[in-house]
Amino acid sequence: MNDSVWTDADRYFESAILKDDDALRGALSESKAAGLPAIAVSPLQGKQLYLIAKMIGAKKILEVGTLGGYSAIWLARALPPGGKLVTLEYEQKHADVARKNLDRAGVGALVDIHVGAAIGTLPKLASEAPFDLFFIDADKASNPDYVAFALKYARPGSVIIVDNVVRGGRVLDAHSDNADIKGVRRMFAELEKEGRVEATVIQTVGDKGYDGYALIRVI
Ligand code: SAH
Ligand code: DHB
Ligand code: MG
Repeated sequence: MNDSVWTDADRYFESAILKDDDALRGALSESKAAGLPAIAVSPLQGKQLYLIAKMIGAKKILEVGTLGGYSAIWLARALPPGGKLVTLEYEQKHADVARKNLDRAGVGALVDIHVGAAIGTLPKLASEAPFDLFFIDADKASNPDYVAFALKYARPGSVIIVDNVVRGGRVLDAHSDNADIKGVRRMFAELEKEGRVEATVIQTVGDKGYDGYALIRVI
């Protein structure tokens, strides 16, 4: 078992399950042309976000970490008419690329992009709560703060997804001095004490190596 069989399987399932999609392909190529890092969710992971949003009937979604809007397109496509995606991005350049990609995908009217450090934007979103679904995918060091805000802006039944919690197994290093790993581990320590959630982790392999995401339901 190695990375090549994982990525080969991604290619196989993409061709078997996913349709050719100009807007999504364009979002990735425009992001690349603008010099954004290639760290968006994979196509199959994007479809998974879309399916979860649809399965829970999400009408309001909050994303932390927009990048070029690739995951945002998937999430926005899952919204019913009148639904809304609020997405938070630190870098103006990323937000500009995302705005164009979302508009080209035909979902721009459903999406608000807020530029700035998410920790500064989040306190201003109280009037938009509750959100049905959260996708936390920004600076991992701040994951505990982002989850705390998600809990504040959730209702019973809301779902919180936190990307990149396995990181090739680096999450196992309890003595890591890496801020991202420390953030992920502190998030789990705080979830353990939190009575209002039930959670699991889905470990993943494929285009993005060995990683995984936390899947959390608010009680
Ligand atoms: N969800 C995207 C990928 C996000 S990559 C997708 O799958 O398509 C992580 C993004 O978080 C980057 O664009 C980065 O600029 C942004 N980010 C990093 N720190 C941030 C912060 N403090 N507040 C908001 N966004 C931040
Ligand atoms: C990185 C960030 C992500 O959100 C991701 O899914 C993969 C990698 C990174 O910063 O390296
Ligand atoms: Mg991620």
